[in-house]
Amino acid sequence: MDCARTRGPRVTPPSHTTPARIAVLASGGGSNLQSLLDYFVSHGNDAGSIVWVGSNRADAGALDRARAAGVEACVVTDHRDGDALLTQLTAARADLLVLAGYLKLVPTHVVRAFHGRLINVHPALLPAFGGEGMYGMRVHEAVIALGAKLSGVTVHFVDDAYDRGAIIAQWPVRVFADDTPAALAARVLHAEHQLLPRTVAAVAAGLVSLGENGRVYGEVPLPGFSTIS
Ligand code: GRF
Repeated sequence: MDCARTRGPRVTPPSHTTPARIAVLASGGGSNLQSLLDYFVSHGNDAGSIVWVGSNRADAGALDRARAAGVEACVVTDHRDGDALLTQLTAARADLLVLAGYLKLVPTHVVRAFHGRLINVHPALLPAFGGEGMYGMRVHEAVIALGAKLSGVTVHFVDDAYDRGAIIAQWPVRVFADDTPAALAARVLHAEHQLLPRTVAAVAAGLVSLGENGRVYGEVPLPGFSTIS
């Protein structure tokens, strides 16, 4: 594990009681991470704060975004090494772990240690268009190829398989007849940036939780979002 902290406007750590300390794993550019950083800075430390960011890629933009925000940024040198990851998360006193475009499987004992506290964002409406190999542009290509009229965003608790686990919140995005995968991806990504921080904040605040029976209790407040009911 290779970690470095650089100078920057450090996110003030909350007290160790209610405000959640949030760790994030990301593999790519980190725009979802940025949506989390922005949300928790603008909502104040009572809502929670991002305290640690890890990536399996040393050149991930997500690590640059973390450093720019003054948040500890680590390269996860062996993504299968759950002990090393757990050591980092424990040192960071992480309450929640968020996968924000993280393309590796989280080791099973980390998943178990963070049961009900490990959250993933997926750029489609699960259980459709998910599972191993369904990531990035492949998801949007499959949605368009199969002629789905709706895609969207799913935020879910993680268990030890790709894109499985109890769904916390979803947000639909229309698929248009002339959509390209890139155009659809851009609209879905915009929805991810709205839904992910609000869902993480709701879990952090205890408004939503994973029950013993594997069901999700509570609702993510989504003002302005309407569905047919
Ligand atoms: C997002 O669409 C995420 O859902 C998917 O990959 C993309 C990552 O984007 N898994 P970013 O790194 O957060 O910008």
